Amino acid sequence: RQPVDSPLYPLLSAAADFYRHALKSHPARQAAVDYLKGRGLSGVIARDFGLGFAPPGWDNLMKHMGGDSLQEKALIDAGLLIENAEGRRYDRFRDRVMFPIRDSRGRVIAFGGRVLGDDKPKYLNSPETPVFHKGQELYGLYEARKNNRDLDEIMVVEGYMDVIALAQQGLRNAVATLGTATSEEHIKRLFRLVPNILFCFDGDQAGRKAAWRALEACLPSLQDGRRARFLFLPEGEDPDSLVRKEGPDAFRARISQQAQPLADYFFRHLMEEADPATLEGKAHLATLAAPLLDQLPGANLRALMRQRLGEITGLGNEALGRLANAPTNDV
Ligand code: UTP
Ligand code: MN
Ligand code: MN
Ligand code: MN
Ligand code: MN
Repeated sequence: RQPVDSPLYPLLSAAADFYRHALKSHPARQAAVDYLKGRGLSGVIARDFGLGFAPPGWDNLMKHMGGDSLQEKALIDAGLLIENAEGRRYDRFRDRVMFPIRDSRGRVIAFGGRVLGDDKPKYLNSPETPVFHKGQELYGLYEARKNNRDLDEIMVVEGYMDVIALAQQGLRNAVATLGTATSEEHIKRLFRLVPNILFCFDGDQAGRKAAWRALEACLPSLQDGRRARFLFLPEGEDPDSLVRKEGPDAFRARISQQAQPLADYFFRHLMEEADPATLEGKAHLATLAAPLLDQLPGANLRALMRQRLGEITGLGNEALGRLANAPTNDV
């Protein structure tokens, strides 16, 4: 997945040190410290996740890492410097709180940086580099596993701050995709580590859309014995805001009482798309569901969900089997 060795690793590690150090001692640090405190983060959790601060200015990191043009070229490759069309080089991350992204071995491979105010983009992420492939990495996975090698369930959330706020409240098993949709690769990776995945996205339209995409990404990996669940949050909340508002016990209770098994969410969602009260709706529902169920590798869950589809639509196994093999007409 990643090169065993690359000259970019020590550069990224040195940059993480620089940002971390700046959060402790740079003259402009106070705004960043206040920001993190304002979001309820403790110094301990900031240290755990290696949070840092990219000071304002165009060349803080460049000056610190110093060196010749070759070194600068390497920093560009690492995603830390940008070279514009005129050949001018400058720091990619400026005046942002920095979140180092680590690979499963704990090596820093990229950064996310958040503005302290309301500027855009809210989060700036490292570009794809030889050591960073966005669609494969999960923020917080290293930290979650470091704290518990025998994880039974991993929670997938949207954002850096969700991972960190949950961890601070003792829910130390959250990971986030990095501004991309949950991919089949993410899921495969997680199911190699744990038998259970819980998705908990933001309580908004984008979060609900992300949940359905995550469900689709799960289907090919959902062998019998594995489980995926979905927790939907109240409108306007995300895991960070909610766990800070109601505390870890209430959040845990929410998970145990409200998390929906994948199969339940599957039918509930499709029944919103196609109304099973009419024959046309039933036919549409079967057309939507059958090819998705066909992707399930677990023969038992597949059979049980087909049976459920049969109960909802009144279609027998034979008709549903034909549908599953028919070319899908996409919606
Ligand atoms: P959110 O906007 O929900 O982030 O985006 P958040 O963590 O809740 O933000 P704040 O800090 O509490 O306001 C979720 C994730 O999507 C990615 C980031 O990984 C973010 O954590 N994202 C979001 C970006 O990459 N760029 C953006 O401009 C916004
Ligand atoms: Mn959001
Ligand atoms: Mn948030
Ligand atoms: Mn959010
Ligand atoms: Mn849909």
